[in-house]
Amino acid sequence: MPAMSPPLAVAVLASGRGSNLEALIQAQQDGRLPVHFTLVASNKTTAPALRLAEEHGIASLALDPAGYASRHDYDVELLRRIADSGAQCVVLAGFMRVLDGEAIAPWHGRIINIHPSLLPKYRGLHTHRKALAAGDREHGASVHYVTAELDGGPVIAQSRIEIAPDDTEDSLADRLLAHEHRLLPATLDLIARGRVALEATGITLDGQLLVQPLSLQGEQAGTVK
Ligand code: GRF
Repeated sequence: MPAMSPPLAVAVLASGRGSNLEALIQAQQDGRLPVHFTLVASNKTTAPALRLAEEHGIASLALDPAGYASRHDYDVELLRRIADSGAQCVVLAGFMRVLDGEAIAPWHGRIINIHPSLLPKYRGLHTHRKALAAGDREHGASVHYVTAELDGGPVIAQSRIEIAPDDTEDSLADRLLAHEHRLLPATLDLIARGRVALEATGITLDGQLLVQPLSLQGEQAGTVK
């Protein structure tokens, strides 16, 4: 895998609202994230994330899966366009599609995703509902490397919150989102600086094998330990 060094060329995939994309752009503009954005792409032509990219002068691409014979064909084309943008790394920030294993193989160790659960708990959708239904005392978000397995790749970093007795699915989602907005830029920062990488043996931080995911501590915005 080519070494990653700042400023890292990053493409972002988003299907919807784009608040995590916004957090990345904000961090980059504030000088907290040594990346430049080569492309924001979406499977939804009306995704607010695309408008957000345009407002910030970032190239945007709406690629409708309806025009492709298979998921594989679509994903190959999407990743070809991403490679053409010059991206070295891809961030899935609310991208609501499973990517084809063969299509993402060349990007192994260079695609990350943010998922609103403490993986390996609650892969897939409705994670807040699942945490409440299970009677969990805590919930969280994870940033992980993407593999062919849905929400199944190695976890780099997590952020935890307590579940309050009166929490609802919406209140939990809202509170967690604020943590996601710190977790994703902080994790990407470690990758951009070449401090975190996916090696054959597992994830490393400053060359040392991680034995458990890094955790984003409390209110220390942007600090992953
Ligand atoms: C976030 O909760 C993220 O964890 C999940 O999808 C949501 C996207 O939100 N994968 P936004 O589009 O970034 O606002």
